[in-house]
Amino acid sequence: MSGSRLLVRDLAQLATPAGRAAPLRGAALADVDVLEDAYVLCAGETIEAVGRMRDLPALDGDVVEVDGRGLCAIPGLVDCHTHAAFGGDRVEEFSLRAGGAGYEELHARGGGILSTVRATREAGEEGLRAAVERHRGWMRSHGTTTFESKSGYGLDRDTELASLRAVRDAGGVPTWLGAHAVPPELDGDADGYLDFALREVLPAAAQIAEAADVFLERGAFDVAQARRYLEACREAGLALRLHGDQFTEQGAIPLAVALGARSVDHLEATGADGVRTLAASDVVAVLLPASALFLGRPMPPGRALVDAGGAVALATDFNPGSAFCESLPLVCSLAATQLKLAPAEALAACTVNAAHVLGRAGRLGRLAPGYRADIVLLDAPDWRYLAYHLGGTVVHRVVVAGELP
Ligand code: NIG
Ligand code: FE
Repeated sequence: MSGSRLLVRDLAQLATPAGRAAPLRGAALADVDVLEDAYVLCAGETIEAVGRMRDLPALDGDVVEVDGRGLCAIPGLVDCHTHAAFGGDRVEEFSLRAGGAGYEELHARGGGILSTVRATREAGEEGLRAAVERHRGWMRSHGTTTFESKSGYGLDRDTELASLRAVRDAGGVPTWLGAHAVPPELDGDADGYLDFALREVLPAAAQIAEAADVFLERGAFDVAQARRYLEACREAGLALRLHGDQFTEQGAIPLAVALGARSVDHLEATGADGVRTLAASDVVAVLLPASALFLGRPMPPGRALVDAGGAVALATDFNPGSAFCESLPLVCSLAATQLKLAPAEALAACTVNAAHVLGRAGRLGRLAPGYRADIVLLDAPDWRYLAYHLGGTVVHRVVVAGELP
């Protein structure tokens, strides 16, 4: 139906981050425009107008109408941090952890991430494509209209590249997480693995991926290795991301700031100095409260980062081990109840700011003329049900690029 016009009318409310700036930081995160008794008009893939019903002009030509009575419209959600390209599952490990086993301890014993590496290598390219498409469908039903996904469960050339292609071909934004773990065949030789990855994988990965990511943590890669990996990736034209301060502070924030990274993600272990440094920088803090919940870890300092003037985004971290959760509405509920972010701040964090992390804030993350017509219709009389309806069926319908599925 692209090329035609779509009118969603008689909405109880329409809510969108205000203005045009990105990323939103500090007090500006809470700046949401709310229109009561509203409409949104799309022309093909693009939003043409939003406004109050009483101001709706007469429309000529063919217009498909959607009845928005009893519903609220918000921008399509943007999940800027997932690991959707994997084979198998970790339900056995989940059950062991439920009985008290530690996540890092399972990883050190060759379980954890490395067990997913085995299953992902076995899945083959077709298996990976099917997995990413299935995961995209799960995300879509929770209102995600744009997703990023990392590789990082292949850790050999073929499987890393197949993962990135599967993400790209499913319409996702691919990130090369070439430095996620040291694969078993390298027997703990992290530097030797990076020699291989940068020489054999980076040139081809840089043709598919938009960004590179590294897991900077004890038991994974140290700060010197992370720097070497990220500098080589930047040289190859990739934007930079880091998994940092998940369990321990290892210098991820100073490194992210020094290299001009787009984001540093996790931050469950970040202390007051890290909050100050990050909030004063242009690096976005990507908070993943579903991962902290799933692992029973402390929550990241969301309120402190915003109060210090920082730019924060929210994401699911969807993956089989530390966050088997594809729901950004649930993440918004956790942001409100655990991170003490207002629903308005949470909305900006998983729309415009997440779009900024993916380099797409000029086109995604707002309901305003010229933006892509990605719209989530909430089954709610007030848009704040997005965070309020904990684990509820809050997403009624999703419009992607002006198309109703
Ligand atoms: O973001 N921390 C590193 N990577 C993922 C988890 C990967 C896994 O457990 O499979 C994360 O939490
Ligand atoms: Fe992650």
